[in-house]
Amino acid sequence: MQVFSSITELRAYLAAQRSEKKTIGLVPTMGALHEGHMSLIEASREANDVTVCSIFVNPIQFNNQDDLVRYPRTLEQDCALLEEAGCDFVFAPSADEMYSTAPSLVLDFGALETVMEGAFRPGHFNGVGIVVARLFNIVHPDRVYFGQKDLQQLAVIRRLVEDLAFQLEVVSHPTVREEDGLAMSSRNRRLGPEERAIAPHLYKALTEAKERLLNGERVDDVKQIVEDYIATIPAFSLEYVEVVDMYTMQPVDELQSEGNTAICIAAHLGAVRLIDNIVF
Ligand code: PAF
Repeated sequence: MQVFSSITELRAYLAAQRSEKKTIGLVPTMGALHEGHMSLIEASREANDVTVCSIFVNPIQFNNQDDLVRYPRTLEQDCALLEEAGCDFVFAPSADEMYSTAPSLVLDFGALETVMEGAFRPGHFNGVGIVVARLFNIVHPDRVYFGQKDLQQLAVIRRLVEDLAFQLEVVSHPTVREEDGLAMSSRNRRLGPEERAIAPHLYKALTEAKERLLNGERVDDVKQIVEDYIATIPAFSLEYVEVVDMYTMQPVDELQSEGNTAICIAAHLGAVRLIDNIVF
Protein backbone atom coordinates (compact mmCIF):
# COMPACT_ATOMS: atom_id res chain seq x y z
CA MET A 1 0.00 0.00 0.00
CA GLN A 2 1.31 3.45 -0.87
CA VAL A 3 0.48 6.60 1.03
CA PHE A 4 0.43 9.93 -0.83
CA SER A 5 0.10 13.45 0.45
CA SER A 6 0.83 15.08 -2.91
CA ILE A 7 -1.91 15.50 -5.51
CA THR A 8 0.63 15.48 -8.38
CA GLU A 9 2.25 12.24 -7.25
CA LEU A 10 -1.05 10.47 -6.68
CA ARG A 11 -2.27 11.60 -10.10
CA ALA A 12 0.88 10.23 -11.75
CA TYR A 13 0.49 6.82 -10.08
CA LEU A 14 -3.18 6.60 -10.92
CA ALA A 15 -2.59 7.63 -14.52
CA ALA A 16 -0.25 4.64 -14.82
CA GLN A 17 -2.98 2.35 -13.40
CA ARG A 18 -5.50 3.75 -15.84
CA SER A 19 -3.17 3.28 -18.79
CA GLU A 20 -3.15 -0.43 -17.88
CA LYS A 21 -6.97 -0.29 -18.13
CA LYS A 22 -7.39 -0.84 -14.39
CA THR A 23 -10.61 0.33 -12.80
CA ILE A 24 -10.39 2.57 -9.74
CA GLY A 25 -12.63 2.62 -6.66
CA LEU A 26 -12.51 5.60 -4.29
CA VAL A 27 -13.57 5.57 -0.65
CA PRO A 28 -13.56 9.18 0.63
CA THR A 29 -13.19 9.40 4.41
CA MET A 30 -12.14 11.77 7.16
CA GLY A 31 -10.20 8.99 8.90
CA ALA A 32 -10.71 7.50 12.38
CA LEU A 33 -11.73 4.45 10.40
CA HIS A 34 -14.13 1.81 11.69
CA GLU A 35 -15.89 -1.28 10.36
CA GLY A 36 -18.32 0.88 8.38
CA HIS A 37 -15.42 2.30 6.35
CA MET A 38 -13.90 -1.15 6.05
CA SER A 39 -17.12 -2.51 4.50
CA LEU A 40 -16.74 0.21 1.82
CA ILE A 41 -13.10 -0.73 1.21
CA GLU A 42 -14.13 -4.37 0.86
CA ALA A 43 -16.91 -3.47 -1.59
CA SER A 44 -14.48 -1.36 -3.63
CA ARG A 45 -11.90 -4.14 -3.72
CA GLU A 46 -14.51 -6.60 -4.97
CA ALA A 47 -15.61 -4.37 -7.86
CA ASN A 48 -12.40 -2.55 -8.90
CA ASP A 49 -8.79 -3.37 -9.76
CA VAL A 50 -7.43 -0.59 -7.56
CA THR A 51 -8.83 0.95 -4.36
CA VAL A 52 -7.94 4.44 -3.16
CA CYS A 53 -8.96 5.63 0.31
CA SER A 54 -8.75 9.36 0.95
CA ILE A 55 -8.27 10.57 4.51
CA PHE A 56 -8.84 14.26 4.92
CA VAL A 57 -10.56 16.12 7.73
CA ASN A 58 -12.13 18.71 5.47
CA PRO A 59 -12.14 22.05 7.33
CA ILE A 60 -14.66 23.73 5.03
CA GLN A 61 -17.47 21.30 5.88
CA PHE A 62 -17.35 22.04 9.61
CA ASN A 63 -19.67 24.81 10.71
CA ASN A 64 -18.52 24.27 14.29
CA GLN A 65 -14.81 24.97 14.93
CA ASP A 66 -14.82 22.96 18.14
CA ASP A 67 -16.04 19.90 16.24
CA LEU A 68 -13.23 20.40 13.70
CA VAL A 69 -10.56 20.70 16.39
CA ARG A 70 -11.83 17.67 18.28
CA TYR A 71 -12.39 15.47 15.25
CA PRO A 72 -10.30 12.31 15.87
CA ARG A 73 -7.12 12.08 13.78
CA THR A 74 -5.57 8.61 13.77
CA LEU A 75 -3.63 8.37 10.50
CA GLU A 76 -1.16 5.70 11.62
CA GLN A 77 -3.87 3.37 12.91
CA ASP A 78 -5.99 4.07 9.82
CA CYS A 79 -3.12 3.14 7.50
CA ALA A 80 -2.53 -0.10 9.42
CA LEU A 81 -6.21 -1.04 9.05
CA LEU A 82 -6.22 -0.13 5.35
CA GLU A 83 -3.07 -2.13 4.68
CA GLU A 84 -4.62 -5.16 6.37
CA ALA A 85 -7.81 -4.66 4.33
CA GLY A 86 -5.86 -4.70 1.06
CA CYS A 87 -6.32 -1.04 0.11
CA ASP A 88 -3.85 -0.02 -2.62
CA PHE A 89 -3.44 3.73 -2.18
CA VAL A 90 -4.09 6.15 0.64
CA PHE A 91 -4.42 9.82 -0.17
CA ALA A 92 -3.88 11.91 2.98
CA PRO A 93 -3.23 15.51 1.90
CA SER A 94 -2.69 18.48 4.18
CA ALA A 95 -5.25 21.29 4.10
CA ASP A 96 -2.71 23.42 2.18
CA GLU A 97 -2.30 20.72 -0.44
CA MET A 98 -6.02 20.24 -0.84
CA TYR A 99 -6.83 23.96 -0.80
CA SER A 100 -3.76 25.63 -2.26
CA THR A 101 -6.32 28.15 -3.47
CA ALA A 102 -9.33 28.78 -1.24
CA PRO A 103 -12.45 27.79 -3.17
CA SER A 104 -14.70 30.68 -4.08
CA LEU A 105 -17.30 28.49 -5.76
CA VAL A 106 -20.47 28.09 -3.69
CA LEU A 107 -22.66 25.07 -4.29
CA ASP A 108 -26.38 25.30 -3.71
CA PHE A 109 -28.22 22.00 -3.49
CA GLY A 110 -31.62 23.66 -3.31
CA ALA A 111 -34.36 21.86 -1.41
CA LEU A 112 -31.99 18.98 -0.66
CA GLU A 113 -30.15 21.12 1.84
CA THR A 114 -32.94 23.16 3.36
CA VAL A 115 -33.81 20.40 5.83
CA MET A 116 -32.10 18.38 8.56
CA GLU A 117 -28.27 18.50 8.26
CA GLY A 118 -28.48 21.35 5.75
CA ALA A 119 -30.70 23.41 8.04
CA PHE A 120 -28.72 22.71 11.22
CA ARG A 121 -25.25 22.91 9.66
CA PRO A 122 -25.24 25.89 7.29
CA GLY A 123 -22.53 25.58 4.65
CA HIS A 124 -21.88 21.93 5.47
CA PHE A 125 -22.98 20.50 2.14
CA ASN A 126 -21.17 23.20 0.21
CA GLY A 127 -17.96 22.03 1.93
CA VAL A 128 -18.77 18.36 1.31
CA GLY A 129 -19.61 19.03 -2.34
CA ILE A 130 -16.42 21.00 -2.98
CA VAL A 131 -14.09 18.45 -1.39
CA VAL A 132 -15.80 15.49 -2.99
CA ALA A 133 -15.72 17.15 -6.43
CA ARG A 134 -12.00 17.87 -5.95
CA LEU A 135 -11.37 14.26 -4.94
CA PHE A 136 -13.28 13.03 -8.01
CA ASN A 137 -11.16 15.28 -10.23
CA ILE A 138 -7.92 14.16 -8.59
CA VAL A 139 -8.61 10.41 -8.54
CA HIS A 140 -10.95 10.00 -11.55
CA PRO A 141 -12.57 6.94 -10.00
CA ASP A 142 -14.89 4.57 -11.82
CA ARG A 143 -16.84 4.00 -8.61
CA VAL A 144 -17.15 5.92 -5.35
CA TYR A 145 -18.35 4.46 -2.07
CA PHE A 146 -20.40 6.13 0.68
CA GLY A 147 -22.21 4.86 3.76
CA GLN A 148 -25.95 5.27 4.24
CA LYS A 149 -25.43 6.63 7.73
CA ASP A 150 -24.94 10.02 6.10
CA LEU A 151 -28.09 9.63 4.06
CA GLN A 152 -28.56 13.28 3.17
CA GLN A 153 -24.90 13.53 2.17
CA LEU A 154 -25.49 10.60 -0.15
CA ALA A 155 -28.43 12.38 -1.79
CA VAL A 156 -26.34 15.55 -2.16
CA ILE A 157 -23.45 13.63 -3.74
CA ARG A 158 -25.77 11.85 -6.16
CA ARG A 159 -27.07 15.25 -7.23
CA LEU A 160 -23.54 16.65 -7.59
CA VAL A 161 -22.55 13.71 -9.79
CA GLU A 162 -25.65 14.14 -11.92
CA ASP A 163 -25.48 17.93 -12.21
CA LEU A 164 -21.76 18.03 -13.05
CA ALA A 165 -21.88 14.85 -15.18
CA PHE A 166 -19.09 13.09 -13.32
CA GLN A 167 -18.46 9.84 -15.13
CA LEU A 168 -18.61 7.51 -12.17
CA GLU A 169 -20.97 5.26 -10.27
CA VAL A 170 -22.04 6.17 -6.73
CA VAL A 171 -22.28 3.03 -4.63
CA SER A 172 -23.93 3.18 -1.20
CA HIS A 173 -23.66 0.71 1.63
CA PRO A 174 -25.89 0.09 4.64
CA THR A 175 -24.93 1.52 8.02
CA VAL A 176 -22.75 -0.81 10.07
CA ARG A 177 -23.82 -1.03 13.71
CA GLU A 178 -22.33 -2.03 17.02
CA GLU A 179 -23.96 -5.03 18.70
CA ASP A 180 -26.21 -2.76 20.73
CA GLY A 181 -27.42 -0.97 17.59
CA LEU A 182 -25.32 2.20 17.77
CA ALA A 183 -24.39 3.29 14.25
CA MET A 184 -20.63 3.17 13.79
CA SER A 185 -19.17 6.65 13.53
CA SER A 186 -15.74 8.21 13.94
CA ARG A 187 -17.32 10.56 16.48
CA ASN A 188 -18.29 7.64 18.77
CA ARG A 189 -14.67 7.65 20.00
CA ARG A 190 -15.40 10.93 21.70
CA LEU A 191 -18.24 9.49 23.83
CA GLY A 192 -17.45 8.94 27.50
CA PRO A 193 -18.46 5.55 29.03
CA GLU A 194 -21.79 6.87 30.34
CA GLU A 195 -22.62 8.54 27.05
CA ARG A 196 -21.62 5.44 25.14
CA ALA A 197 -24.09 3.41 27.23
CA ILE A 198 -26.89 5.87 26.46
CA ALA A 199 -26.13 6.40 22.75
CA PRO A 200 -27.96 3.27 21.42
CA HIS A 201 -31.28 4.81 22.53
CA LEU A 202 -31.23 6.78 19.28
CA TYR A 203 -31.42 3.58 17.25
CA LYS A 204 -33.99 2.15 19.66
CA ALA A 205 -36.16 5.23 19.08
CA LEU A 206 -35.78 4.84 15.31
CA THR A 207 -36.66 1.13 15.26
CA GLU A 208 -39.75 1.72 17.40
CA ALA A 209 -40.78 4.61 15.16
CA LYS A 210 -40.41 2.43 12.09
CA GLU A 211 -42.64 -0.28 13.63
CA ARG A 212 -45.29 2.29 14.51
CA LEU A 213 -45.24 3.78 11.00
CA LEU A 214 -45.52 0.34 9.45
CA ASN A 215 -48.47 -0.32 11.75
CA GLY A 216 -50.23 2.70 10.26
CA GLU A 217 -49.68 5.31 12.97
CA ARG A 218 -49.59 8.92 11.72
CA VAL A 219 -46.19 10.46 10.92
CA ASP A 220 -46.75 13.47 13.21
CA ASP A 221 -47.79 11.26 16.11
CA VAL A 222 -44.77 9.01 15.67
CA LYS A 223 -42.39 11.98 15.51
CA GLN A 224 -43.92 13.27 18.74
CA ILE A 225 -43.44 9.87 20.39
CA VAL A 226 -39.75 9.91 19.41
CA GLU A 227 -39.35 13.48 20.70
CA ASP A 228 -41.01 12.52 24.00
CA TYR A 229 -38.88 9.39 24.32
CA ILE A 230 -35.59 11.23 23.74
CA ALA A 231 -36.72 13.93 26.19
CA THR A 232 -36.89 11.28 28.92
CA ILE A 233 -33.09 10.89 28.63
CA PRO A 234 -31.75 14.26 29.84
CA ALA A 235 -28.24 13.66 28.44
CA PHE A 236 -29.66 13.97 24.92
CA SER A 237 -30.53 17.21 23.26
CA LEU A 238 -32.58 16.40 20.18
CA GLU A 239 -32.00 18.49 17.05
CA TYR A 240 -34.50 16.87 14.74
CA VAL A 241 -36.42 13.76 13.90
CA GLU A 242 -37.85 13.66 10.38
CA VAL A 243 -39.65 11.16 8.20
CA VAL A 244 -38.49 11.85 4.64
CA ASP A 245 -38.44 10.60 1.10
CA MET A 246 -35.16 8.72 0.81
CA TYR A 247 -34.15 10.47 -2.45
CA THR A 248 -35.54 14.01 -2.21
CA MET A 249 -34.95 14.23 1.56
CA GLN A 250 -38.21 16.16 1.83
CA PRO A 251 -40.44 15.49 4.86
CA VAL A 252 -43.45 13.31 4.03
CA ASP A 253 -46.65 12.73 5.93
CA GLU A 254 -47.21 9.23 4.65
CA LEU A 255 -45.03 6.23 3.86
CA GLN A 256 -43.42 6.09 0.42
CA SER A 257 -43.13 2.91 -1.63
CA GLU A 258 -41.04 0.14 -0.07
CA GLY A 259 -37.41 1.14 0.50
CA ASN A 260 -38.07 4.85 -0.14
CA THR A 261 -38.93 6.17 3.32
CA ALA A 262 -36.30 7.16 5.86
CA ILE A 263 -36.56 8.22 9.48
CA CYS A 264 -33.63 10.47 10.31
CA ILE A 265 -32.52 11.73 13.68
CA ALA A 266 -29.80 14.03 15.05
CA ALA A 267 -29.05 14.71 18.69
CA HIS A 268 -26.27 16.03 20.86
CA LEU A 269 -24.99 13.72 23.56
CA GLY A 270 -22.65 15.78 25.71
CA ALA A 271 -20.23 17.45 23.31
CA VAL A 272 -20.82 14.90 20.56
CA ARG A 273 -23.37 15.27 17.80
CA LEU A 274 -24.79 11.96 16.59
CA ILE A 275 -26.91 11.23 13.54
CA ASP A 276 -28.64 8.05 12.46
CA ASN A 277 -31.42 6.86 10.16
CA ILE A 278 -33.39 3.84 9.09
CA VAL A 279 -34.50 3.33 5.50
CA PHE A 280 -37.52 1.10 4.95
O1 PAF B 1 -18.56 11.33 5.14
C1 PAF B 1 -17.43 11.84 5.30
O2 PAF B 1 -16.55 11.27 5.97
C2 PAF B 1 -17.12 13.19 4.66
O3 PAF B 1 -18.23 14.01 4.68
C3 PAF B 1 -16.55 13.05 3.24
C4 PAF B 1 -17.55 12.46 2.28
C5 PAF B 1 -15.29 12.21 3.25
C6 PAF B 1 -16.18 14.44 2.71
O4 PAF B 1 -15.25 15.07 3.51
